Amino acid sequence: MNDRVELSPSGPLRGELSPPADKSISHRVLILASIARGRSVIHNLLRADDPLRTLGAMRALGADIRDSGEPIEVYGAGLRGLKEPEDVIDCGNSGTTMRLLAGLLAGQPFFSVLTGDASLRQRPMKRVITPLRMMGAGLYGRAADTLPPLAVKGGTLKAIRYHSPVASAQVKSALLLAGLYAEGETVVEEPLRSRDHTERILPAIGARVRVEGLRVSVEGGGELSPFETTVPGDFSSAAFFLVAAAVVEGSEITVRGVGVNPTRTGLLEVMKRMGADVEVTERRDVSGEPVADLRCRYREGLTATGVGPEEIPSMIDEFPALCVLATRADGTTTIRGAAELRVKESDRIAAMASELGKMGVELEVHPDGLSIHGPVRLRGAVLDSHNDHRIAMALSVAALAAEGSTTLHGTSAVEISFPGFYEHLRRLSGG
Ligand code: S3P
Repeated sequence: MNDRVELSPSGPLRGELSPPADKSISHRVLILASIARGRSVIHNLLRADDPLRTLGAMRALGADIRDSGEPIEVYGAGLRGLKEPEDVIDCGNSGTTMRLLAGLLAGQPFFSVLTGDASLRQRPMKRVITPLRMMGAGLYGRAADTLPPLAVKGGTLKAIRYHSPVASAQVKSALLLAGLYAEGETVVEEPLRSRDHTERILPAIGARVRVEGLRVSVEGGGELSPFETTVPGDFSSAAFFLVAAAVVEGSEITVRGVGVNPTRTGLLEVMKRMGADVEVTERRDVSGEPVADLRCRYREGLTATGVGPEEIPSMIDEFPALCVLATRADGTTTIRGAAELRVKESDRIAAMASELGKMGVELEVHPDGLSIHGPVRLRGAVLDSHNDHRIAMALSVAALAAEGSTTLHGTSAVEISFPGFYEHLRRLSGG
């Protein structure tokens, strides 16, 4: 794919789209189907770089995954049926692949190594290494056990009670996966609720899971049942189009079949607070996840808001899109309590500050967020995605609402979560 896109100011976005399938859920169903015993069927799996890394990894570990069109079939090896991989497992850009697999591999009686691309090899791994070692796994990393590659010699695990210092679904899920292999009840408590997809699926396939407030526990042993599931659309991908419709005059779009799990949809509440015209219709349940259609219509007069730590986990991946919305709102939008953004696929606070700065936005950078002064007439500019899919998509939306044209470098990053992003954008903007 071309790594650069030229964007000009857009006419109104109008029409409908079905966003790609949810990335978080796609990783989880691939892993869980691979350790269930027997044939699982997955409809609408996200075929994008990140989940395809997980698919490749599960194959390397012995799962028989048949991907010859819709749906994907997985012949799972059973909880204790995985085998030692013959080579290093390359997780690419995918933090979810690496952290969830660290938990899974902690329970396997063999040796494995996880690596990734230049971005992933700079992302913090101590958050999974520390608790998994407490459970008894042999787990090592570069730079004094803080960074990938990771070497894992798994084995007999003991259950622990763990208070995670970060609200991270990747950490929580890694420990729940390890907990399936531990004797007794593994308990994870987090400071704020992170996305709960893992603990929704696990009990449905036979794991003994309890959720009490911010505490999730799983009992080890037993077998997981194979399952048939449909992955809903990804709210985090839909978000770019909701924001595009909110900032490009005259727009009205409908995004169909979007997962609206409340641990993911914080941006909707913030958009409403800012005065955006967003509506949730056709609520339904798809494979244990709430799903709906979302409509967003352009409306004049957005107002600035404050976003604090409690709201951050439910909109952690929507920060780049929210920044674009904030440039069009009257007043100062301040986002705090989001230091985690510094250790995503890029430092998203620094990346959005530098790129929006080039478009003429006045802002202040905080260690854990940004203050953005609006409303501002965005200027087209030469921009860089920092090789981060969500930065690339957010800046593309900003460019549509800008005066003058924009050249955005590093756009192949969108393949991580949203192949076809630019085709949708072109179609809905009629050009
Ligand atoms: C994810 C959890 C979040 C999120 C990431 C996907 C997941 O990361 O930012 O895009 O699928 O569990 P953290 O667990 O680091 O918060």
